[in-house]
Amino acid sequence: MKIPEQGTPRAALMARMDELARSDADWRRGKTWSLVYWASDEALAVVKEAYTKFFSENGLNPMAFPSLRRFEQEVMAMAVDLFHGPPGAAGSMTSGGSESILMAVKAARDWARVNRPGVKQPKMLVPLSVHPAFEKAAHYFGVSAVHMPLGEDLRVDVARARDLVTADTILVVGSAPAYPHGVIDPIEELAALARQHGILCHVDACVGGYFLPFLERTGRAVPPWDFRVDGVTSISADLHKYGFAAKGASTVVYRSRELRRFQYFTYGDWPGGLYGSPSMTGTRPGGAIAAAWAALNHIGMDGYTTIARDVMDTTGRILDGIRATPGLRIMGNPVMGVFAFTSDVIDVYGLADVMEKRGWKLDRQQRPPCLHMMVTPAHKGVVDAFLTDLRECVNGLEHGKVVPEGSSAMYGMLGSMEDRGAIHDIILDFMDGMDTLDAG
Ligand SMILES: Cc1ncc(COP(=O)(O)O)c(C=O)c1O
Repeated sequence: MKIPEQGTPRAALMARMDELARSDADWRRGKTWSLVYWASDEALAVVKEAYTKFFSENGLNPMAFPSLRRFEQEVMAMAVDLFHGPPGAAGSMTSGGSESILMAVKAARDWARVNRPGVKQPKMLVPLSVHPAFEKAAHYFGVSAVHMPLGEDLRVDVARARDLVTADTILVVGSAPAYPHGVIDPIEELAALARQHGILCHVDACVGGYFLPFLERTGRAVPPWDFRVDGVTSISADLHKYGFAAKGASTVVYRSRELRRFQYFTYGDWPGGLYGSPSMTGTRPGGAIAAAWAALNHIGMDGYTTIARDVMDTTGRILDGIRATPGLRIMGNPVMGVFAFTSDVIDVYGLADVMEKRGWKLDRQQRPPCLHMMVTPAHKGVVDAFLTDLRECVNGLEHGKVVPEGSSAMYGMLGSMEDRGAIHDIILDFMDGMDTLDAG
């Protein structure tokens, strides 16, 4: 395939795009439980308008676009306030959770180079359930990730993690909450461990950062996780998740400006001029920065609090329905609308496959097999339909029998493979094949 010789008229292009989108996940009707965060049609319209207004502007040079600079300053001031940052706390906007995490790990590594010169091979302690962005950061920045075991409640077992600290440990990480099961790690204990050793502590609140503060405002008890916990030195939190901003927007906040300086990259010898860049990206879409600012200002503290209340109401109904379905079990004690369920009697991968035939897209997880859900305002009206389908599908599966096809067979095969290097190759082959053009 090559670029068409003659350009395609706008109407024909749009029609082709609509046609291709027809088989996309149906998030508008609440059929998906990840990837898309929708607050309301009005909020979506505001965010889109803001994005489009600054579509062409570039956040690379804050001097050229004072508007973007102002948006970013205000977004970061709001983030610092929301996470109870002390005076002097500061951070950056990034393109997403992964970039925020990469930056926090890079900052920790460079902090250690100055403050722990004896460290030869920097290590960070991460929960077994931590997001793979930390493994990516380890891979990119030459920091080893050491896994802390989880307890029965699926939170880090800090008592067992203590022995993992060595003279080379520079950073301890906890999640608020962790993606797989929606449980918050014991942040106070992890931060105390870091403090005891004079090292840094990062809280990954990519999923909870713009939800937990509002959950707290509804009067619910939320375990401590932010800068109010002594010893927490940085926090990642995504605007493009429960902040309902456009994709390409996250925040990483440090307890002090001095810490943030370790995140930055500078180069003074380029013929193109002096170069300074706060994060991974060079060019930064003005639209994503403007849309994040618009989302925070449009929805406001009260709006986010109402959303948190609604999402928890929807979540409660789903959790009750799952708990009342014989054979299904919720894992751990999820704190927000993110959780997983499993079964000791039916094959949950088989369940995901039959639910998918009814249009419901549930993400499969492993170790042990379980299904993941992430509740947003888009799910308010689908609870009954979902639970009816879930009950029918559970009843239709034979107890104790593994479904010999579909995702069940695939996960079964991959799960039992001893050679994890081979899994690596299978994933590589899968990604490598993504550019193969389908017919049509
Ligand atoms: C807890 C947690 N951290 C980090 C990330 C990575 O965020 P992103 O996909 O925006 O890079 C996610 C994404 O789901 C997450 O749930």
